[in-house]
Amino acid sequence: MKQIELSIKNALGTVSKSDVDALKPVAQQSLAKLTDGSGLGNDFLGWVKLPSETPSSLLDDINATAASLRENCDTVVVIGIGGSYLGAKAVIEALSDSFAAYRHDAAPHVLFAGQNIGEDYLYELSDYLKDKKFGIIVISKSGTTTEPAIAFRLLKEQLEHQLGRQEASKRIVAITDAKRGALRSLADQEGYKTYVIADNVGGRFSVLTPVGLLPIAVAGFDIHALIEGAAAFEQATLTGANDMATLYAQTRNALYRAGKKTEILVNYNPKLHYFGEWWKQLYGESEGKDHKGIFPAAVDNSTDLHSMGQWIQDGERTIFETVLSVVDQKHELRIGHDEANLDGLNFLAGKRVDEVNKMAELGTVLAHVDGGVPNIHIIIPALTELYLGQLIYFFEAACGISGYILDVNPFNQPGVEAYKKNMFALLEKPGYEAETEAIKKRI
Ligand code: PA5
Repeated sequence: MKQIELSIKNALGTVSKSDVDALKPVAQQSLAKLTDGSGLGNDFLGWVKLPSETPSSLLDDINATAASLRENCDTVVVIGIGGSYLGAKAVIEALSDSFAAYRHDAAPHVLFAGQNIGEDYLYELSDYLKDKKFGIIVISKSGTTTEPAIAFRLLKEQLEHQLGRQEASKRIVAITDAKRGALRSLADQEGYKTYVIADNVGGRFSVLTPVGLLPIAVAGFDIHALIEGAAAFEQATLTGANDMATLYAQTRNALYRAGKKTEILVNYNPKLHYFGEWWKQLYGESEGKDHKGIFPAAVDNSTDLHSMGQWIQDGERTIFETVLSVVDQKHELRIGHDEANLDGLNFLAGKRVDEVNKMAELGTVLAHVDGGVPNIHIIIPALTELYLGQLIYFFEAACGISGYILDVNPFNQPGVEAYKKNMFALLEKPGYEAETEAIKKRI
């Protein structure tokens, strides 16, 4: 099986091969901690062997639910935020036709809600759904997160108004905790089809559970192949047959120690924009704690070469890049010859558009390396379910290893509670009376 590959040759210079190699023992110990559960946050290691332990029967059940939603709905709204949103969005965007939203034959359209509290967003979504046959997949591990809860309250009411409560309940699927949370109680009461997010899988590591798999299957993609790719990579990583995850973790930590505080994930394929968003959450929420951690940023090239390119080439030298390079494109498109050649582009006549893109990529990598920006390179044979499965597992494993090298707990997120406490105090949520009084004195 072809697989994703890693090259660190363009990262060497700021750090040497021996700086990277010096972190090998701690990286291997960190990998061992993920498998033997002796590290920090060891109650959240359910993702480590998840791909190989996912029963085929679960995938078949998810496919059956997806088929029913596809048959009965022209639009499916996936409600969730953070880890209950970004994985599905990333994979669907990577695999979809770029103009799927405008194609009438691409049913059902998969839309997202609950990932913001934009009043206009929710109003316009509700307005769009007025004459649609829509269904809802509501995802919340805790079952109490404010953003998706608001979106679900609004859309559930709309669906019940359109269909009646009993019929509406047949078009709603809830993915949540097995026992706890408001969403679990509601789902049991209304008789929704449900899937469980295991206690030991954190939100940002949940894309290969029903959280990601159901929306991906509804969008028409092959979840068996996605899991197959991840399981193969799991096997290779955990047996030591493939050292990509440890090597990436070693390299980025060596660069961090050498003063490179920001990592930019770079793509040259617009379909990978949301993969960058998923990766930012995975690494930001896992590593940014105890006043430590590489700041994860992302750019979409060549678009962002015309905006952020200046900063990356010439700004403060505290950054490094990790470039996602997709070898094969799905389609072939060649640039034509033009008799008048007023645009001066005849030197490109006959070339594929991707050839130009690849030279933009290579030229940029060389320029950035010359400019003092180390580059790590991840090569993806093609944007398919199989390779995305490999890539997801690779980044998850490397994230756990990297967090342990940094000596933080990569599996908690205490920092995200601070804004919630203030928001609830400001909104005068029952139970927050003392916080409300205190915060009002500050404003
Ligand atoms: O990674 C995480 O744990 C978070 O991003 C959560 O996924 C996010 O806050 C949503 O939480 P929940 O699924 O409980 O609604």
